[in-house]
Amino acid sequence: MSETKIETTVHGMMAEFTTVDSLLSACRRIRDAGYTKTDAYTPFPVHGIDKALGIKPTALPWICLIAGATGTCIALAMQIWMNSIDYKYIISGKPYLSLPAFIPVAFELTILLASFGAFFGMWALNGLPKFSNPMFTDPRFDRATDDRFFLYVDASDERYDANGVRNLLADTGSDYINEVVEDDSPKEVPKPVFLIWGLSVAASLVPLICILTMRVTNSSKPRFHIFFDMDFSPSKDAQQVTSLFADNRAMRSDVPGTVARGQMEESLDMLTGIDVEALTLSDPPRVERLVRAYMQADDEAKAEEKEAIEAEEKVAGEAAEAAPASVMDTTPWVAKNPLTVDAELLAQGQQQFAIYCSVCHGMDGYGNGLVNQRAQSINAPTWVPPASMHQETLYADKYPDGKLFSTISNGIRKMPGYAGQIKLKDRWAIVAYVRALQKSQNASLDLVPESEKAAVESAVAEVKAELKRQAEAAEKAAAARKQAQQ
Ligand code: HEC
Repeated sequence: MSETKIETTVHGMMAEFTTVDSLLSACRRIRDAGYTKTDAYTPFPVHGIDKALGIKPTALPWICLIAGATGTCIALAMQIWMNSIDYKYIISGKPYLSLPAFIPVAFELTILLASFGAFFGMWALNGLPKFSNPMFTDPRFDRATDDRFFLYVDASDERYDANGVRNLLADTGSDYINEVVEDDSPKEVPKPVFLIWGLSVAASLVPLICILTMRVTNSSKPRFHIFFDMDFSPSKDAQQVTSLFADNRAMRSDVPGTVARGQMEESLDMLTGIDVEALTLSDPPRVERLVRAYMQADDEAKAEEKEAIEAEEKVAGEAAEAAPASVMDTTPWVAKNPLTVDAELLAQGQQQFAIYCSVCHGMDGYGNGLVNQRAQSINAPTWVPPASMHQETLYADKYPDGKLFSTISNGIRKMPGYAGQIKLKDRWAIVAYVRALQKSQNASLDLVPESEKAAVESAVAEVKAELKRQAEAAEKAAAARKQAQQ
């Protein structure tokens, strides 16, 4: 620090008063003299002091209002964007853009930003944070919190002139007037502050270092559990064992007879593929079992029904081997798809067939899907080739839609059932598609509408010509090979 005394900065002029009235009248004088950068310090709030000093109403309410309105807009825009535009998601059945649902968040953000506006706006308007006020340099100013009133005129005021202000204040009856100068205490931050700061930073790193070392080292001690009940929750994961239930399974199956909402809207015919009315005449106990199996979701009855179908299949299979013409199947299957067969249903069926059936039966239904190709290539000993959909025994007249549906649902001989994987309506859609697939391989030109005939005929001719060309090329190549060998 230099030895020569630096010219001290003058901040302004202060005057001390002993009563509220003398302060107020001094304020009015100063205000009327045209000073604006003034302030008063009192031990308690004095009514009318801002008017006496000519202080304009604060802009804080406006800051507060703008901040609050910003909050409302941000919250609404955010929710409208998220819920109604970017990620449409129905919550509690409300519309995507549901103003009442957006109000709580909008309200909260309004309050939050308005309070921030009020808090930080007050700081900004008051020039805070300020660690010291030059007024504190005068020991007499301490009585501002006790029994004295102070008036201060800032030196940055346009009209400020040290002598003029001093005279004016003396005129108002103040007995103590003093120039407010810059605090002459050292400006540097004391060394211990740095020390404490450094120590706190170092200490705050200790937990982080502990965690990092634990991540890279091993310990034979048991883990330290802060939240014991969370680490050792009695809840179970899927497929776990528990002693709580007699069957030791943590996963519980449905209570028998439980029917989920939306189930059971279909008729028993549609659920089973069997003409139940006809069955009532011939086999009432089986109808009863079907009701138990499908309407009451009784797994035992379902298993019994599956066995019965298998037994019948076996009899029919043996009979067919003995005398193919007399294939016996006594179940009155539903003859026609209960769903309306249209382009949409066929497209749905095609998609489902491609997903579930084509792996074995092939996209074209001839029975040479990828699984079959693989099984043949490794000579899988127990492999039974999937049936071709294009054999006459599977045509609608011999193999009714209901039976095809039952085959898909329950499986048949070596083929597994798909009721658990394919939805009811999708299974019927597959039935419709299989019918279309069969027709596609066995169609005559009579089925083609008059207007399309010419196009189909020329396409067929093209394919025939192409096949002929290929056959000729193959013949030529074979002949050439023969000649080369000779
Ligand atoms: C895992 C391979 C596989 C899948 C997938 C598969 N099947 Fe089969 N399917 C077979 C086999 C194997 C047979 C022959 C069973 C036998 O004769 O033992 C067969 C037979 C059939 C039969 C003839 C039944 C009879 O009475 O002769 C039909 C119809 C049939 N499947 C339709 C379908 C449909 C529709 C799908 C799609 C939902 C499908 N399959 C999915 C393997 C499969």
